[in-house]
Amino acid sequence: MNSYADAKHLALDEFTRAESAALVIRMQLSQKPQLGAPEIAVVLGSGLGAFAEELKDSVVIPYGDIPNFPRPTAIGHAGRMVIGKLGDLTVAAMQGRAHQYEGYSSRETAFPVRVLGQLGVKTLVITNAAGGINPDYKKGALVLLSDHINLQGSNPLNGPNDDRFGVRFPDMSEAYCRNYRRIALNAARQLGIELQEGIYAALPGPSYETPAEIRYLRTIGADMVGMSTVPEVIVARHMGINVLAISCVTNMAAGLFEGHINHDEVLETGARVRDTICSLLTSVLPALVSESK
Ligand code: HPA
Repeated sequence: MNSYADAKHLALDEFTRAESAALVIRMQLSQKPQLGAPEIAVVLGSGLGAFAEELKDSVVIPYGDIPNFPRPTAIGHAGRMVIGKLGDLTVAAMQGRAHQYEGYSSRETAFPVRVLGQLGVKTLVITNAAGGINPDYKKGALVLLSDHINLQGSNPLNGPNDDRFGVRFPDMSEAYCRNYRRIALNAARQLGIELQEGIYAALPGPSYETPAEIRYLRTIGADMVGMSTVPEVIVARHMGINVLAISCVTNMAAGLFEGHINHDEVLETGARVRDTICSLLTSVLPALVSESK
């Protein structure tokens, strides 16, 4: 991007690009009129895509068929949108996301949230794989995000603001809806699932952190670390979409254990918590929609 004029073009054009993506999704949905428009969406992170298989009567749309959609290249991210029924509810599930480390801008990684907003989604549930920094966490733990620290060096709202999406300076004092968190904690208790709350630090990646970086993150108040989520949350809040986010602690962070971190471990732990996260989402999603009505 060379100039303010380029940036302005990009930012203002985003609305049109999101509309054309939403139009293509609506056209696909029209094959199954019983589905209607999705009220709620869920982003399924690394190795956590299985929940989409719970949706009935679904329409599956590869990201490659949706204009302007960023395509994930990382293993464990299928790159398709599955829209289907969970009981009476129509849910849009994104199996996989694009990250900044794949070469996308922060704005591009969050573009799918713009499209979900155009489709009428008012509630967004985000899942991710994260490294555990809080020593009380164990590999496989599920942690609700109560807040975040953006260390990605970028913000998806950089550049001119499009007032059709939201205000120039969106408030982030309750980025992760308190009521949604209460609902999720109650649901987890009823299901016998251990669910904690913590603060997520977002780094650009793709290299994992050094032990010194993890000590720094602990000092500034982070409980877990990952490479995603924050741009999506900022864009969702910009549009007035309420957010619940859940990290799966797929590994303890660098320096907190003997050994090395690798993506296979991240995917293996994701697979291990598959049933737990599916039952949590199945119980929480309808409760969040009722809360929003
Ligand atoms: N660091 C950053 N991102 C991650 C990690 C980690 O340890 N595990 C899963 N995503």
